[in-house]
Amino acid sequence: MANIRALVAGNWKMNGFNASLEMLDELASGLREGTASTCDVMICPPTTILAAAANQVPGSGILFGGQDCHEAEAGAHTGDISAAMLADAGANAVIVGHSERRADHGETSELVKTKAEAAHRAGLMAIVCVGETEAERRAGDAVKVVSGQLDESLPDKLTASDTVVAYEPVWAIGTGLTPTAEDVAEIHTAIRENLIARFGDDGAAVRILYGGSVKPANAVELMGVANVNGTLVGGASLKAEDFLGIITAYRP
Ligand code: 13P
Repeated sequence: MANIRALVAGNWKMNGFNASLEMLDELASGLREGTASTCDVMICPPTTILAAAANQVPGSGILFGGQDCHEAEAGAHTGDISAAMLADAGANAVIVGHSERRADHGETSELVKTKAEAAHRAGLMAIVCVGETEAERRAGDAVKVVSGQLDESLPDKLTASDTVVAYEPVWAIGTGLTPTAEDVAEIHTAIRENLIARFGDDGAAVRILYGGSVKPANAVELMGVANVNGTLVGGASLKAEDFLGIITAYRP
């Protein structure tokens, strides 16, 4: 098994103003105190403060990402942002196919794939999200649903450095509920097998993040699960103390 460097990414969703950027100073000083080299750390703020965020903590090693992009490079798409614009604002990555985009905006896996391809064209890492609903899990279809989403959402060509997969069960997002370690292991192992079957050595090294109600209190257990190579964190990424508590779960 490849030695995979973990990634802890914070998705601020539609939270945060310029004033919230103080959090980044706290995060950067926490990282300077000793957790920096154990994993990659990323913040995905709202687009309005992305450039300010990326300029706020130079030299800290913190990576930045957008939360969505349009599949086209430019054009008449009022209200949308292209991957190239995110890169221009200082982003290293972009989240595509988050379940909130799939649910709120009817985004299909086919569309998500074109967004991931757009991210790659702009030189951004694509963080491709998948995850089943509560009803799908109850029906025993979680592995099938997630595998189907992967098949349709991932670009035909990818590398371990330009793509990350995030497994976020919809029912675990913002609810305080998390799957058991066994359930996480089952899905992450199925994702790994899917990636290896399609992408070989690159598939073996793609980071697979778990997301959904990750907190300092459950991070150690979740990150200890086989094929969990980091986390995508919503609510707990808004406070430096909580986010640092999750990052610290990687301390050797
Ligand atoms: P919470 O950590 O708030 O459950 O959100 C998870 C998520 O959707 C991250 O993208």
